[in-house]
Amino acid sequence: MALKRLSFLSSFALGIAEIDDDHRRLIDLSNDIADAIDGGDFASCDSLFATFMAECRAHFVREELHLKASGYPEAAAHAFEHQELLRRAVETREYCRQQVLHAQAGDCYAKLVDFLVADILKADIRFKSYIDVVGYRG
Ligand SMILES: [Fe+2]
Ligand SMILES: [Fe+2]
Repeated sequence: MALKRLSFLSSFALGIAEIDDDHRRLIDLSNDIADAIDGGDFASCDSLFATFMAECRAHFVREELHLKASGYPEAAAHAFEHQELLRRAVETREYCRQQVLHAQAGDCYAKLVDFLVADILKADIRFKSYIDVVGYRG
């Protein structure tokens, strides 16, 4: 059975172009990883994970600048969550490296989706609620 793919929905948009573009790119990469797992292409999967991790790190740096610039009171806690999420992504990649069966790799992919959802749909949407109320001061 094919893995689920994520789509960038308009409700995910923060209205900060570079951050929304990052989120689109991270979702696209996660879908590329799903394609690699579905195709049994674990070499591609590993290199896609390397790209995904690098893009996540760069995204978090960019996003944290916006959090601080806007005076967001939860900026430090949000940045701490990013570090936790990166640790989870490293673990997931490592787990994927050791897998040879589609069903097991699918479990890894589910963790990756949780990782994306935790950032984009929960933590970042809280930030969106803040800037919706106080206005963006970045
Ligand atoms: Fe975030
Ligand atoms: Fe984000």
